[in-house]
Amino acid sequence: MRILTISAEVTPFAKAGGLGDVAASLPKAWEELGHESIVVIPKYGHIDCEKHSIQPTDIIVAVPIGTWTEYARLWIGTLPDSGVKVYLLQNSDYFDREGIYGNPDGFTDNDRRFIFLARAAFETARTLGFKPDIIHAHDNHTALAMPMLKINYANDSFLNEAAGVFTIHNMVYQGLYDSQKAIQFMGLHRRHFFKGSWFEQYGALNSLKAGIMFSDKVTTVSPTYAHEVRWTKSGENLQDSLHARASDLIGVLNGVDYTEWDSKTDKLIYENYSAKTIERKEYNKQHLLADFGLNTREISDGLPLVGMVTRLTPQKGIDLLERGLDHFLKNNLMRVVLLGSGESRYEDVLRSLAKKYPRRALVQIGYNNTLSHKITAASDFFLVPSRFEPCGLTQMYALKYGTIPIVRSTGGLADTVMEYDAGTGYGTGFLFQQFSAAEFRTAIGRAISHYRIKPHWDIIRNNAMTQNFSSLISAQNYINVFHWALEKVRS
Ligand code: ADP
Ligand code: GLC
Repeated sequence: MRILTISAEVTPFAKAGGLGDVAASLPKAWEELGHESIVVIPKYGHIDCEKHSIQPTDIIVAVPIGTWTEYARLWIGTLPDSGVKVYLLQNSDYFDREGIYGNPDGFTDNDRRFIFLARAAFETARTLGFKPDIIHAHDNHTALAMPMLKINYANDSFLNEAAGVFTIHNMVYQGLYDSQKAIQFMGLHRRHFFKGSWFEQYGALNSLKAGIMFSDKVTTVSPTYAHEVRWTKSGENLQDSLHARASDLIGVLNGVDYTEWDSKTDKLIYENYSAKTIERKEYNKQHLLADFGLNTREISDGLPLVGMVTRLTPQKGIDLLERGLDHFLKNNLMRVVLLGSGESRYEDVLRSLAKKYPRRALVQIGYNNTLSHKITAASDFFLVPSRFEPCGLTQMYALKYGTIPIVRSTGGLADTVMEYDAGTGYGTGFLFQQFSAAEFRTAIGRAISHYRIKPHWDIIRNNAMTQNFSSLISAQNYINVFHWALEKVRS
């Protein structure tokens, strides 16, 4: 099958969160499964082309925008440990600046930037002679590729046999644009936008809604989230649209690229280890604590180390941290190591924990991929106390390192972590149900009580490390969805 992936992020070239990881791991896995795929992303100003061996080509793609034509020069890179080609669109007006989205408020021309990206991806495929079976768009940024396929390319014999599959990684970000401008940039007639149309929500052009309505199949990144978006407020006021597409909507659990995230082979951690050599995990903890400036006595005091790596947004449950952790830090029952960046109010929460407990709350504000791997390997437990979580990758990464997740039972967290049952010896982590500091505290309490009981601790770590959330499984599930989508357009 030939798959065109259109994404605003792809790891390691440009990543803000899990979207980048998934947009890279799926095409790599499809290649292993014998499918052909290319990825199209913008060439952002911050991408380190030298480091990633990204080269300019002399291919110029003509991109229809409105009633005129704009241009992108193609650059080409290859995803690490694979032959998957990534085409990066160089257009300095749109992309040659710091950042991907212009957070927190977004660049004012995101409508035009992302419409350009989607439209340019189709034209890139054409220019390269890559006739796709599937156009796979991710999240609101590239969602408008779905209506483009059905309207702009309806009579285009090179592209109109493709099926459009739209994957929702997060319902919160919807890509709301001024309708007049956006419809014009898309090259559509004003009649396409009206109250109640597939583009419209509360008077604005809603990219996410258009992606949901115009695609042949809609996926979310976990089965539980697929349910939650229809039946709970996780649907973010698009429940009706999702109900309308219910028979074409399915949750496909994300997978892990184990060439990047495996304690046995990870090149970014201090010491590799497997389930059989788990005692070596301890070196990772010792080195990390030393790097954070702890002394020999502290390094060997045997306190459990609890890690967390996250974007700092309302989604991630940072509000629970202070009251959830206070008891354990005050009473010297554990140590935490927190890495995150994002909203300043949450950065302040982390800083204030570090100030209150300088030797026990180790905090690094910022984005640091190497440190994220080190924390995953060094910690005994890993926190993901999210308010909601479409899938979540860090808990799956943690499992492979024998780092036991403590998570809220929501979205993909509920699909990937199973409460440890001391009676049966089944389970991989500790969960709490309500979004409350009290429940969070109880789950942490349960977790650290097991840390001290050797047989249980051995079993749970072994259970964790033998889980298999490989992106190959996820990629095959997508292929099944793609066949299903093709049946629809080609029957
Ligand atoms: P989300 O996409 O909602 O942020 P995921 O768990 O799916 O959540 O993916 C987050 C990805 O981003 C993981 O690869 C995680 O390691 C990475 N990440 C998040 N914050 C940071 C950070 N401050 N430094 C390094 N990596 C981070
Ligand atoms: C989103 C979600 C996260 C998910 C990631 C990759 O950013 O917040 O839960 O794991 O996308 O699909």
